[in-house]
Amino acid sequence: MLVTHTKDELVEQTADWRRHEEHIALVPTMGNLHAGHLALVDLAREHAERVIVSIFVNPTQFGVDEDFDAYPRTLERDKRRLKTTAADMIFAPSVDTVYPFGLEMATKVSVPGLTENFCGATRPGHFDGVTTVVARLFALVQPDVAVFGQKDYQQQLVLRHMTQDMNLPISIITGETVRNEQGLALSSRNSYLTEEERATAPLLYETLTTMSGELKNGRRDFDQLEASAIARLSSAGFDVDYFSIRRAQNLEVPDRDCDDLVVLVAARLGEARLIDNIVVTI
Ligand code: PAJ
Repeated sequence: MLVTHTKDELVEQTADWRRHEEHIALVPTMGNLHAGHLALVDLAREHAERVIVSIFVNPTQFGVDEDFDAYPRTLERDKRRLKTTAADMIFAPSVDTVYPFGLEMATKVSVPGLTENFCGATRPGHFDGVTTVVARLFALVQPDVAVFGQKDYQQQLVLRHMTQDMNLPISIITGETVRNEQGLALSSRNSYLTEEERATAPLLYETLTTMSGELKNGRRDFDQLEASAIARLSSAGFDVDYFSIRRAQNLEVPDRDCDDLVVLVAARLGEARLIDNIVVTI
């Protein structure tokens, strides 16, 4: 497995693969890899002969008072983990490589409409940072396929929209959320949880599965369902940012006949902000 840090090395290697008519899949990450990321690598390999995992803690998607400095950077461990997978290359660029004119002069990509609510409301500017960096990674790597996790439901929807809207010749694949035995979605931020909070955290997914059952049973009193879920989580110690039942396709408010729903949740538990979701097809 190759580890490249520069644009020149990346371009040289990817050109060689393309000359051999090999397709390239990109799995963008911020590192501190866990089994959820590794599952995306396996999925990527099903869609392309070559897999590149980018590792870049992107400064532009963190708010000023967020955890950019504290975000775990574990490149050596990530390398060891990726060696056990089908990844052909780690691309771990510097900030200068991704933003050659500096952060102040950086061209921004932004997706209006899908980014104002939910994580966009609690984290202003976050999605502009995500779309800006992913557009740059797409331009550097020029992949045929890019793989994102369903865990960040709004993010994959926004990136799909960006790719379609800009006519980028890249297929977007979404990989299922990988969970621990208790149902907690794996996340780098789970490391901020205390032992006690770790015992509480699985309630997030439990609440989503209960909700999925209610919706499949025909309940359509969305407001009431949301309110009772928020009450359940709050009384367990979560500080709920949002808990919303929406149309899976575009996050709009569903009508009673909608048969493709997603339930989205974000909640703080101690130092950690946890997000999760469940798609409910009726
Ligand atoms: P990061 O949080 O490192 O996540 C990288 C990818 O892994 C994302 O597509 C995310 O949805 C996916 N992922 C995270 N936890 C997962 C889980 N438990 N199961 C399955 N997939 C999971 O998301 C980002 O980085 C950044 O915003 C990025 C897209 C790289 C842009 O900087």
